[in-house]
Amino acid sequence: MKVIPGLEGIAVAETELSLVDGEKGHFVYRGHWVKELAVSRTFEDVVHLLWYGHLPSEEEGKRFRELLNAHRELPGHVKDILERIPSDADMMSVLRTGVSALTMEGDWPPSPEQGAAVLGAVPAIIAARAHRLRGTQLPPVRKDLSHTAHYLYLLTGENPAGAHVRALEAYLILTAEHGMNASTFAGRVVASAQSDLLSALTAAIGALKGPLHGGAPSEVEGMLEEIGTVERAEGWLRGKLEKGERLMGFGHRVYKTRDPRAEALRRVSEELAGENPWFRLALETEKIALGLLKEYKPGRRLYTNVEFYAAAVLRAVGLPKELYTPTFTLSRTAGWCAHIFDQARQNRIIRPQSLYNGPMPEER
Ligand code: CMC
Repeated sequence: MKVIPGLEGIAVAETELSLVDGEKGHFVYRGHWVKELAVSRTFEDVVHLLWYGHLPSEEEGKRFRELLNAHRELPGHVKDILERIPSDADMMSVLRTGVSALTMEGDWPPSPEQGAAVLGAVPAIIAARAHRLRGTQLPPVRKDLSHTAHYLYLLTGENPAGAHVRALEAYLILTAEHGMNASTFAGRVVASAQSDLLSALTAAIGALKGPLHGGAPSEVEGMLEEIGTVERAEGWLRGKLEKGERLMGFGHRVYKTRDPRAEALRRVSEELAGENPWFRLALETEKIALGLLKEYKPGRRLYTNVEFYAAAVLRAVGLPKELYTPTFTLSRTAGWCAHIFDQARQNRIIRPQSLYNGPMPEER
């Protein structure tokens, strides 16, 4: 037996959910190119594909939207709990607590009905907290808007612009699922003990919060803010690499070529904010960073990952940076649920081993 740090190269499940081919840069959900789904389908259609195995017919789509819509209103006790969390708690911790406080019928096996209860409620949890911090009121729930449009509406109280809804929808589809990443694995581990869906999702949210995983986009924005102008980019980036620090939004365990999600999101953000100076700064910073990564980390094949342009899209649709990782949570809840259903179908408890390398007591 030997230890594989970070479980690199270890497959822990077979799945039809998604293909992430890090050499070819291929990214597929159940036989569909994700980059095509992102520009041709709604988020709800893609969740249906992930959970039920196929894109919905018109009737199935309608029923699924109704199922999600039924959970838009937060239960009173969840609102109360969110109110009581001190204002200095970070948004991801609040979201983790909000999801954990939801209640649902039945424990095992996890079902799409249970998943819809969480997915339907996540936008309201995020928005309730955002309003509480701003001292404003969560607007009344509406049933006439799509999941994506309704999220933007809950945050602002206004009808969102069509271009913003389309850009955010593409982001949500591109980030809904991504194979056996850290948070998905965390969720599957919990589910493998036949624990309930909410416990598994709470664990997944905890993993996603970390800056090496889902916490990166706000760090990317922080980096670009500190850089400020293209002229300062090289010196700033070099300084980080000289100190052995990582550049946020670059590198990936699986992709050894450009992350296809980064490319798709670059196009989405360019359509929305192509002339914006902040977007031009992002483009130039990316070019310089890629050159420097080759210089400082030769042979490491470090490319732009999804988080770099996630920051650009989320900023362009008007979200503040503290909502970037929560918005990622909103989309990835779909993928986590799909994996948890998958785990339940072919369950064997996930129970790896550790190698003891401490001292031995004397033989007796
Ligand atoms: N900047 C500078 N050097 C890097 C970076 C980076 N962003 N990423 C990896 N490296 C170097 C690392 O220092 C190491 O070099 P050396 O062996 O000389 O010390 C080498 O590349 C291999 O790194 P690793 O830690 O073994 O790579 P990993 O597969 O364990 O980590 C990663 C993958 C995504 C955590 C890492 O690339 C990273 O920390 N990136 C920055 C954070 C980030 O953008 N995260 C979002 C990831 S994409 C979304 C998601 O999966 O959630």
